[in-house]
Amino acid sequence: MKLIVPGGWLIILFAGLFISCSNKAEEPYLEPLQKSEVSGNAIWNRITVESSFKNYSEWPKDSGLQPGQSPHGVWHRVFANNSLFDALPVADSTAPEGSLIVKENFDSSKKLGSITVMAKVKGYDPESGDWYWAMFDPEGKVLKEGSPGGCISCHAGMRSNDFVIINPLDMAP
Ligand code: HEC
Repeated sequence: MKLIVPGGWLIILFAGLFISCSNKAEEPYLEPLQKSEVSGNAIWNRITVESSFKNYSEWPKDSGLQPGQSPHGVWHRVFANNSLFDALPVADSTAPEGSLIVKENFDSSKKLGSITVMAKVKGYDPESGDWYWAMFDPEGKVLKEGSPGGCISCHAGMRSNDFVIINPLDMAP
């Protein structure tokens, strides 16, 4: 009996470890995109080929399909990669290099209309938080990329949270 009980606990422990690691294992740890290589196409490749953004994490309070605000979709779903998620909470509310935030934007009938991305690229645009902004159609065609004034001016309302609107970065997810 004494042998069986610890063994049982070990099995539970390993099963627990396996379950808690298996989600994360699907997202590889990648070198941050560099200023010299970043582009809309490089970002699309990163979020669909080198890794799949659908395996990224979601903020528990904002996971799944959520009602969104103009000009983004009526419905949205937001994913953040492990570079950002592993760092949360960040005391100074600054997302680390390599952070990727991907937002799917859906219309009122929940049809995917576009995908908008913020990619933190060291030295890319220090004035605006070093974010590289991109917008894609559902097939990955680049619609906007770089430092579109519209993206920056609206998100600048949350400059104190590193231009991120959805959730405070200095709070645990
Ligand atoms: C008029 C304001 C406005 C403009 C312009 C805008 N956004 Fe947003 N964005 C928001 C709001 C509000 C949210 C929070 C989620 C929601 O309500 O849809 C958001 C959320 C996001 C998110 C999820 C991370 C976060 O900050 O919460 C990404 C990624 C994003 N936007 C990318 C873009 C890109 C790329 C562009 C330009 C092509 C852009 N946004 C233009 C208002 C704007």
